[in-house]
Amino acid sequence: MELRVLVLPGDGIGPEVTAEAMGVLRRVADLFGHFVHAVDGLIGGAAIEAAGAPLPPESLQAARDADAVLLGAVGAPRFDGLPPDQRPERGLLALRQALGTFANLRPSRAWPTLLDASPLKNAVVEGTDLLIVRELTSGLYYGTPRGITGSGPGERAVNTLSYTREEIERVARVAFHLARGRRRHVTSVDKSNVLENSQLWRRVVTEVASDYPDVTLDHLLVDNCAMQLIVNPRRFDVVLTENLFGDILSDEAAVLSGSIGMLASASIGERRSSGLRAGLYEPVHGSAPDIAGRNIANPLGAIGSVAAMLAYTFELHAEARAIEAAIDQVVASGRLTADLKPAARAATTSEVGQAVRDAIAAPCSMLPAPRPLIPGPRSLIPDP
Ligand code: IPM
Ligand code: MN
Repeated sequence: MELRVLVLPGDGIGPEVTAEAMGVLRRVADLFGHFVHAVDGLIGGAAIEAAGAPLPPESLQAARDADAVLLGAVGAPRFDGLPPDQRPERGLLALRQALGTFANLRPSRAWPTLLDASPLKNAVVEGTDLLIVRELTSGLYYGTPRGITGSGPGERAVNTLSYTREEIERVARVAFHLARGRRRHVTSVDKSNVLENSQLWRRVVTEVASDYPDVTLDHLLVDNCAMQLIVNPRRFDVVLTENLFGDILSDEAAVLSGSIGMLASASIGERRSSGLRAGLYEPVHGSAPDIAGRNIANPLGAIGSVAAMLAYTFELHAEARAIEAAIDQVVASGRLTADLKPAARAATTSEVGQAVRDAIAAPCSMLPAPRPLIPGPRSLIPDP
């Protein structure tokens, strides 16, 4: 199979971690007989500096032409003074919207050998394995009207929290479908004791649930969910929520895995005319400007994102599992970057990337991963 991938390294540690992830993708492609056709593009602060905009038209076109996009990170302190519509982050938001990647999947689990890396007690995090399904192309991030008007004491800022039934329903279906490949439990998170928006959210999710009688649905208010995530994280299987709540809860959930550097994500949409599912893949960590360019960032989140790309866009599940199994093997071996162990004994970004490449098993010797991130070989979302 030909894998046409656009790489958008972006800012900060983005270039370092995407380079390792692409090295892993090429290794898997070699072993399994695929051909990687990769092109590089600009996004974020790097694009503002080189081309005057956070998502130049060439990058957008390249994203449309590729089958899948691997993104590093966007954002740098030197752009903090810019208005929202000119900031590096706006490039990412525009890309998510243009690709229609409405469902953002953010798994977080506790690797058995990393329990001590979490500030939470081992007994709390042990056995955690959850998947946040965050709505990604609507809600407060995109609602209109928006903006700042007036001046003086009456200066006023407005953002709009808006969801249509259709937007709630399609992301809910992704969550229920994925729950079927896991422990068949969806927790929908909202603020329906205060917000009309959440009342519609809860009603539509409850309706969708009737199509999935084999999946248990419960509802949590977002403030309570924030607490339960660090008090009793094992209670969660799939967490379904709107855009801003998902943004906040997914950083919190990262604490369960020991380091946000471990976490991969997939942002997926409908199938395209090629028959492949739209997908934007990125580690959950940000640009981490304080450690950029030092070869010390954790590349495993980016590498896991390539595994997700193979599973969700290319539907190459054995290949995806080969990467996940290699990540598990490297984690168990203790070859970890400085976010997970004392700097004096830590491995570099490129050493961890090399270790994963070395650990990738050829198809014939592949054992199934014990606890796959990817929910089984069937396609991700049932086609209508
Ligand atoms: C994330 C990030 C982005 C978001 C920023 C960079 C726009 O925090 O992917 O979680 O808020 O969605
Ligand atoms: Mn975030």
